[in-house]
Amino acid sequence: MQVIQTRDYENLSEKVAGIIFDQLKGQPDSTLGLATGSTPVGTYQLLKKQPEHFIEATTFNLDEYVGLKESHPQSYRYFMQEKLFNTVPVKASYIPNGSATDLQEECKLYEQKIQASGGIDLQLLGLGMNGHIGFNEPGTPFDSRTHVVELAESTRQANARFFNHLDEVPTQAITMGIETIMEAKKIVLLVSGNEKVQAFDRLFRGEIEEKFPASILRTHPNITVVHDL
Ligand code: F6R
Repeated sequence: MQVIQTRDYENLSEKVAGIIFDQLKGQPDSTLGLATGSTPVGTYQLLKKQPEHFIEATTFNLDEYVGLKESHPQSYRYFMQEKLFNTVPVKASYIPNGSATDLQEECKLYEQKIQASGGIDLQLLGLGMNGHIGFNEPGTPFDSRTHVVELAESTRQANARFFNHLDEVPTQAITMGIETIMEAKKIVLLVSGNEKVQAFDRLFRGEIEEKFPASILRTHPNITVVHDL
C-alpha cells in the first residue's frame, strides 16, 4: 500500500489527476473506475483541462441510486455529466441504471460489461465515514459482486446535504461489489477532510473485517491512498 500525504485538498486533487494522466499516457484505452461524492470533484476539474487524453478511455462508475431518473440533479449520471463528461469526451461511460425495470438483471449486465471491457485498470474510490466503499455498507460480504443495496441510515444522512430533505434521499442503490472493486488492477483511494480521520485510522489500524468494508483494501496488491489529513 502506497500512502501519499498531500498538503491540502488542492494538492490531493493535483496528485490524483497526475496519476490518472500517467495511466492514460501509458495506456490510452484504459478502463477507469470512477466515483462520485465530494472528494473527487477537484480531481475532475483538473481532468477537464486536458480532455484530449480521454478519447480512447472507457469509464465505469461505482454506483447509482435506485429510482432517480438520469435527469435528476442528484443522480450520479447527472453528477458525472456535470463534473466531467460534459467536457471530457470518453469513448464510453457506464453507470448502473438505477431506473431499470429488472434491477438484478441490470447488476448482471453491468458485471458483464466490465468483463467485456477487459476489467478495470484504475479504480478511484472515496472513503465513507463508516468504511463503506462504493455503496458497500458495513456487513457487505467481501465476495460480493454488483448488487442492489439498502442504504445505511448514516449514509442517507451524510448524503442528505445534496437533497432538499432527508426523505428525498433514495433508500436503495446499485453498487459494484467489493470483489468487483478488488479486481481492479490498480486502486487509488482518496481521503480528505477532518471528518474522515477516524475512518482513515481504522483503515490502517483496525481488523480486516466485513464490518469495515474498506479494510479489505489493505490486501490489494496495487493500491495508493492519497490523503490530506
Ligand atoms: C461515490 C461512492 C461513495 C463515496 C463515499 C465518500 O460514488 O461510492 O462510496 O466515495 O461516500 O464520499 P465523499 O467523497 O462525498 O466523502
